[in-house]
Amino acid sequence: MRKMTEQNLRAAFAGESQAHMKYLAFADKAEKEGKPNVARLFKAISFAEQVHATNHFKTLGDLGDTSANLQAAIDGETFEVEEMYPAYDAVAKLQNEKGAQQSIHGAVEAEKIHAKMYKKAKDAVSGGKDVPLGDVFICDVCGYTVEGEAPDTCPVCKVKKDRFKKF
Ligand SMILES: [Fe+2]
Ligand SMILES: [Fe+2]
Repeated sequence: MRKMTEQNLRAAFAGESQAHMKYLAFADKAEKEGKPNVARLFKAISFAEQVHATNHFKTLGDLGDTSANLQAAIDGETFEVEEMYPAYDAVAKLQNEKGAQQSIHGAVEAEKIHAKMYKKAKDAVSGGKDVPLGDVFICDVCGYTVEGEAPDTCPVCKVKKDRFKKF
């Protein structure tokens, strides 16, 4: 692909991905404000943006086989843990941005676990197998991730067990 077209598609992928997420958050809010049709509209169009993002992503040639995808996931999570979030956290601290620090803390603690889970999966897939995996629980407040059983309280943000979503 020509360089400029590639850069444009990457920008479009980022923009569509963000619109997808934004519309889901807008949908939740509309639901809470008692506007179910607006919520449904946001959800539907969020899905369309997901389709656009996925199409751009595939056209860029970034979708590999599962082994390659797991490696890409490990690399992404590791970058976030080792470089991106420590640098962002340092800036947030410097600027006394407490909310940002809290949001960053929640993310980085989960990303460490994500990297480990992906590594285990990559090892299994490299050996020609699917990974053994129990129930996965995600804290819907901070994104803390745990396999097996949900803890009584989230170790990162301290909310109760019932806030964990099971996968
Ligand atoms: Fe992650
Ligand atoms: Fe949490």
